[in-house]
Amino acid sequence: MSLHVQFEGITKRFGPVQVLHGVSFEVQPGTVVGLLGENGAGKSTLMKILAGHEQPSGGTLRIGGQPVAFAGSREAEAAGIVLIHQEFNLAEDLTIAQNIFLGHEKKRGWLLDDAAMRAEAAQALAQVGLAVSPDTPVRRLIVAEKQLVEIAKALARRARLLVMDEPTATLTPGETEALFNLMARLKAEGVTILYISHKLDEVERVTDGVVVMRDGRFVTRAPTASLTRREMANLMVGRELADLYPPKDPPPPADTPPLLRVQGLTVPGWAQDIGFEVRPGEILGFAGLVGAGRTELFEALLGLRPHTVQQLELAGRPVRIRSPREAARLGLTYLSEDRKGKGLHVDFGLKENLTLMALARYARPWLQPAAERAAMQQAVQDFGIRTGTLDIPASSLSGGNQQKLALAKVLHPDPRVIVLDEPTRGVDVGAKRDIYGQVQQLARQGRGVVVVSSELMELVGLCHRVAVMRAGCLMAVVQGSGLTEEELIAHATGTREH
Ligand SMILES: Nc1ncnc2c1ncn2[C@@H]1O[C@H](COP(=O)(O)OP(=O)(O)OP(=O)(O)O)[C@@H](O)[C@H]1O
Ligand SMILES: [Mg+2]
Repeated sequence: MSLHVQFEGITKRFGPVQVLHGVSFEVQPGTVVGLLGENGAGKSTLMKILAGHEQPSGGTLRIGGQPVAFAGSREAEAAGIVLIHQEFNLAEDLTIAQNIFLGHEKKRGWLLDDAAMRAEAAQALAQVGLAVSPDTPVRRLIVAEKQLVEIAKALARRARLLVMDEPTATLTPGETEALFNLMARLKAEGVTILYISHKLDEVERVTDGVVVMRDGRFVTRAPTASLTRREMANLMVGRELADLYPPKDPPPPADTPPLLRVQGLTVPGWAQDIGFEVRPGEILGFAGLVGAGRTELFEALLGLRPHTVQQLELAGRPVRIRSPREAARLGLTYLSEDRKGKGLHVDFGLKENLTLMALARYARPWLQPAAERAAMQQAVQDFGIRTGTLDIPASSLSGGNQQKLALAKVLHPDPRVIVLDEPTRGVDVGAKRDIYGQVQQLARQGRGVVVVSSELMELVGLCHRVAVMRAGCLMAVVQGSGLTEEELIAHATGTREH
């Protein structure tokens, strides 16, 4: 019971822009295949075609040797093909159970069989290791939990071919482990898995073979065991990549007055009495397991959550911040980890997204379309945003390019302190390097940069000092030779007590 998939010369055009240029390869049933490629290479688009979310402009998709043309995802699901979206596709106002059965509601006679749906949803949640009630509204879940609901939804649809588009981007190491176990079980049952990820260590671990795409074209395929990670990265970008992290600048002298000073910040239920400082020219990291309270801490700082604070100073002046807009006016901006929910207005155009936070600068007293356009072109260039045209909604950008746009957006108001929450999530290795270079540049310009990240290597490679949080408390601030992955893990998991 498995599916043999063949792509034959698949092309895809969005209006004038061609994003797939005749992609051909096949997928052996019952294997786990990694799909690699830079941001915008066309991975998600190809998978959306396979799963019936998009129709190809040309070429043939064959399943079990037969040409198929899915008019929608429902038809693909009937054939056993399910896509777990990179950008979540959940209805925020519905419960988990309602989401899992949306469009596939179970009925008893004429009535919805709520009990059966809740029971089956609970079972799927248990399989993915998410311990929440199926009656919870999706709105209340954090990003990692939404990801697990997406996976549970696919399981409940009894997929024989599962496409996972960056499923671990928001998961903790423990949740990732659980997912890998689940994948191994599914594979043993004959399920074929197509796995998209920018985390090459995972690709190395879970896939049997990899397919590499570049600029909308098939480049090569190879057994995973025959490639090193570095070779994978080079195949993706089509050139030899230099080192990921730029050499660190020396930290600012310890007696430099801080740009941002926080004392006694408490976010009920999330963070307890947190204090820290960021100096001009400094890159301060925040490490911790998912759920340690880092995101909630900064959301509170920006006025997005109820909190109390003893002292908050920006550039030496006591301030009160009630909203991100107010913070931006004071020179502090925040890149949300939830780029779809809180970061970008995905239905708005690229330009509108970029300039929304800096409206005051453009409205004098009317909007200046020419200035807006010029700013956008500059941002596209500076941040390497790949798009055929500027006149599309943000939702049409590839995942990694949405992330770059979100980054451009928080830097546009010219802030003095920038908080970046998971700035490289979903971003390919080449673009990661660019972002690290940009972060360093920001610090060099005398700004203060805070980087919240779940990738410890990233914090070690980039930051001058790293604060570690665990269960809402600040456990330690490490720097210098103490700044190692092992040290961060020890504090984050509580295996090192002082
Ligand atoms: N609806 C759309 N309208 C216009 N362009 C689109 C649309 N959907 C995707 N694109 C473009 O197609 C190209 C490929 O995007 P795709 O999402 O497939 O990339 P990807 O390989 O998944 O990248 P990432 O690693 O960033 O997720 C991008 O340039 C993107 O902007
Ligand atoms: Mg994608």
